[in-house]
Amino acid sequence: MSTRYTGLIEKYKDRLPVSESTRFISLGEGNTPLIQLQNIPRLIGKDVDIYVKYEGLNPTGSFKDRGMTMAVTKAVEEGSQAIICASTGNTSAAAAAYAVRAGIKAFVLIPEGKIALGKLAQTLMYGAEIIQINGNFDAGMSLVKEVADHAPVTIVNSINPFRIEGQKTAAFEIVDELGDAPDFHCLPVGNAGNITAYWKGYSEYAESGVANKRPVMCGYQAAGAAPFIAGKMVDNPETVATAIRIGHPQSWDKAWNAEKESGGWFDAKTDAQILAAQKMLSQFEGVFCEPASATSLAGALEDIGSGKIPEGSKIVCTLTGNGLKDPDTAISQCKDAHPVTIEATLDAVKKVILDQM
Ligand code: F0G
Repeated sequence: MSTRYTGLIEKYKDRLPVSESTRFISLGEGNTPLIQLQNIPRLIGKDVDIYVKYEGLNPTGSFKDRGMTMAVTKAVEEGSQAIICASTGNTSAAAAAYAVRAGIKAFVLIPEGKIALGKLAQTLMYGAEIIQINGNFDAGMSLVKEVADHAPVTIVNSINPFRIEGQKTAAFEIVDELGDAPDFHCLPVGNAGNITAYWKGYSEYAESGVANKRPVMCGYQAAGAAPFIAGKMVDNPETVATAIRIGHPQSWDKAWNAEKESGGWFDAKTDAQILAAQKMLSQFEGVFCEPASATSLAGALEDIGSGKIPEGSKIVCTLTGNGLKDPDTAISQCKDAHPVTIEATLDAVKKVILDQM
């Protein structure tokens, strides 16, 4: 049986650490929509081009699939029988799915009660070995690093360099589509693997002349989980955006390097700002992302408003995960929506419509 590949390793294999004999572990990830916002720029009265890279349309609903296709491909190539990660939810879902695809085992450490419902549902369905801990992501991360020295498991958190390799392809896709890098790239920062990966991707394209420039990198964190803004690790991170509830980011130096080399900055957004941006995207653009993802737009909007990001700029915001990942937070934000319940008659339906017009 011949295997047809459709994912990002196939597309970018010349720029990824694979060979002719590598078996790609793929679910058709990547090639996600870059959607130009139409209504929000008008609403804020600013002359800016804002695009969102909608990573929630990857096979498990987040950008993690980019890194996981590469990390699991290499783990299998190196003969690994099992992978392990700590996760706030999305990495665990991706690890579980790609492990199934590869026919190997996945162990995932998650903070008990602190991962969004959709992510838990996915990870259960894919059949990973779920280890819930009475501790946060940072505690899980240090356990994973320790246990990997004592058990035959490959770590697939973003400290695994192949994760970064896979994730850098998002920057390639953006340049391929826009014809060059944007002026500004805004993204949520948790463990800081993704900002590291984008910067690597943009840098490689600039070095080989595919892009003429690299963007200014703007990293946004949740105010209650903002080590890059504090300038030091944070011990008890808290935020509604559970995906980025991280106080000890692993790619600390690499993220600072991206910020410095690009002339960019880190900033923090409150939970209220994050949720407002999430709702705005849904209600004015028809794009539903999870709370952590909206941190990028929340940050961009504030910096456009203040002029830090000037008018005339081309801006890309990464929307890291699908809104369906966290139905609880979405529903709790729409308490005023009051769905009506009526008799199942033509008259009753007609009345509702006419009342609303
Ligand atoms: N957005 C979402 C939806 C995420 O799931 C994550 C990280 C980030 C942003 C931040 O990316 O860590 O590369 O800076 N989620 C990890 C997880 C930690 O376990 O799923 P980062």
